[in-house]
Amino acid sequence: MAILIKGGEVVSADKSYRADVYCNNGIIEAIGENLDVPAGTEVIDAGDLLVMPGGIDPHTHMQLPFMGTVASEDFFTGTSAGAAGGTTSIIDFVIPNPQQPLMDAYHQWMEWAEKSATDYGFHVAVTWWDESVYEDMGKLVHDHGVNSFKHFMAYKNAIMAEDETLINSFTRCLELGAMPTVHAENGDLVYHLQRKILERGITGPEGHPLSRPSEVEGEAANRAIRIAQALNVPLYCVHVSCEEALHAITDARNNGQRVYGEVLAGHLEIDDSVYQNENWEYAAAHVMSPPFRPKKHQDALWKGLQSGNLQTTATDHCCFCADQKAMGKDDFSKIPNGTAGVEDRMSVLWDAGVTTGKLTPNEFVAVTSTNTAKIFNMYPRKGAIEVGADADIVIWDPKGTRTISAKTHHQNIDFNIFEGRTVTGIAVHTLSQGKVVWTEGDLRTVKGAGKYVKRPAYSSAFEAVNKMRIHNEPKAVKRS
Ligand code: URP
Ligand code: ZN
Ligand code: ZN
Repeated sequence: MAILIKGGEVVSADKSYRADVYCNNGIIEAIGENLDVPAGTEVIDAGDLLVMPGGIDPHTHMQLPFMGTVASEDFFTGTSAGAAGGTTSIIDFVIPNPQQPLMDAYHQWMEWAEKSATDYGFHVAVTWWDESVYEDMGKLVHDHGVNSFKHFMAYKNAIMAEDETLINSFTRCLELGAMPTVHAENGDLVYHLQRKILERGITGPEGHPLSRPSEVEGEAANRAIRIAQALNVPLYCVHVSCEEALHAITDARNNGQRVYGEVLAGHLEIDDSVYQNENWEYAAAHVMSPPFRPKKHQDALWKGLQSGNLQTTATDHCCFCADQKAMGKDDFSKIPNGTAGVEDRMSVLWDAGVTTGKLTPNEFVAVTSTNTAKIFNMYPRKGAIEVGADADIVIWDPKGTRTISAKTHHQNIDFNIFEGRTVTGIAVHTLSQGKVVWTEGDLRTVKGAGKYVKRPAYSSAFEAVNKMRIHNEPKAVKRS
């Protein structure tokens, strides 16, 4: 089915202009003024609207088995909720249990993701190390289109990667041209602080941020960045939530190191006062890692995004309902970590970023879509309104408003961290693979319509660091 998006203002990361956009067979086939199209083509009037690349959320956890339970959102409900908010692709995480072969976990996640309504890809976590992990990383890159590997520096006694694993895996990433990514929190320190805080009799959700202060993240971010520097490999830091981690990234970038940073809509807009709420369920619903921070960190994160030291925005969408959060009723360290947001990221960022003048509409496109497509090597198939690109498009009303609520959202969770917030900037129509999946409040996603997106091994960032490495190759001293 062909669709003509007529008369909208096309907003991409580098320019804005008025044009028609013609989509056919899932692809953008033509862009131009007053396009002639075949009779019978469906027309969407975008006269007062913006036409932007669909959002890409590079950090979600659909139906993740985690902390003794399973995230309540599956790949169909989650990608559908994303579509309602203008997000048309996700990159989720395959997370093998320690000792589980990476390929087994990958196949398991691929099966779960078959029901996705929009396109998806995977980062694969390296949670342990041996020769088989080394081999499987190669298979994943060469045969399965995985070009990024995740390392949890937290979650001790579960999925935490020790430094030795980071070193082995980062080295393998460099060989393969794959991007290492880190969840930067010092897991040993978190474990120690959790025990101390529980011993003091603090068992409620207020103990969660106390056990994960910003130093815990700053230390781990700095360590990962220094390991990457020593090995000459690029690095992507997920969910950067505090000044200390941002400073480590900024310093490294100023020093010529290729380090990228992602920030969550939640960390930009919500502060740590939520953990002081007298209602246990409310406070527990905000338990995620890293935790929400004191306000000064939010200001720093916004500046990081504005300055380009943070390049991408995500949600870390990981849904646990009240009955699941209740697993930690007597011990905050047992509250399943995670909050939702895949449906709301785009609107919250437009509202908090563009309407306030912190971001231009083009910068909004860069940080919600294009930069992610570039960093994870999907550009310009994704993240672009260009002839030949996938017709994953959001048609956006920059003045439209909606009030966010768990009562009306499409996410499969009974809580919304942005509850009651009226946002300006909404998805009016969303196209995935050239088909309308959301139009004026009507969700039309189809189970299984989403396709797996293969992401080839990375090129330019790695070529650059490899050149630097070869150029600076250490030499033995010749002695007679
Ligand atoms: O609290 C969080 N973020 N839960 C999901 C797992 C992770 O750390 O990304
Ligand atoms: Zn994480
Ligand atoms: Zn996560």
